[in-house]
Amino acid sequence: MVEKIILSPSLLSADFGRLEEELLALEEAGLQWVHWDVMDGIFVPNITFGPPVIKKLRSRSKLFFDVHLMIDKPERYFETFVDAGADLLCFHVESCLHLERAVSQVKDLGVQVGLALNPATPLSSIEYLLPQLDLVLIMSVNPGFGGQKFIPFTKQKISQLVKMLQEVQATCYVQVDGGVTPSNVKELALLGANVFVSGSAFFGYPPYAERYQVFLDAVQRN
Ligand code: DX5
Ligand code: ZN
Repeated sequence: MVEKIILSPSLLSADFGRLEEELLALEEAGLQWVHWDVMDGIFVPNITFGPPVIKKLRSRSKLFFDVHLMIDKPERYFETFVDAGADLLCFHVESCLHLERAVSQVKDLGVQVGLALNPATPLSSIEYLLPQLDLVLIMSVNPGFGGQKFIPFTKQKISQLVKMLQEVQATCYVQVDGGVTPSNVKELALLGANVFVSGSAFFGYPPYAERYQVFLDAVQRN
């Protein structure tokens, strides 16, 4: 039996022309989290949306805004994203030189903080910071685009992260992002992941309430 999981649908695969309706539809379908993929065209080869879009939609949604920053030197914008309404700010270890300072800055702004690692980035880079984190995001594709294939070796990183958390007696969400589908979600949950980002495998299969149930059932299936 797997613990309860959180599904955080990635708006990257939603209809950008109807974001307000998409957020409402998620809420009506029973989702609690939504994943905002913020891309700057420098840290990743794609550009999406930024604080003004999040801010405009904040007042129209009660969902937990899980904001994944794929931007260079993210510390320049922490305050702006918190002001826009982020509930959790997750940024990449590869994008930021003074990690401890940056993590503290986010915490001081009063929101949850997460660190994301690209597939090839070792977990050792965040070992000392684990007790301070609310979430670790294991990227299971190279960031930039939705609809990519899950990279198998990242499963090992999930197990290793769970072990490291036990060793330092820290608890935080273990989030997996990229190529997550109803076919692999149970395996990932058994390894110890508990927050799943899904873009193409979620938004491509409406109605959302049914699709959400497919993910939940997949995790509990024997
Ligand atoms: C990739 C993003 C992911 C992505 C997930 O850069 O961080 O959130 O949108 O999309 P799928 O589920 O389609 O791989
Ligand atoms: Zn993401």
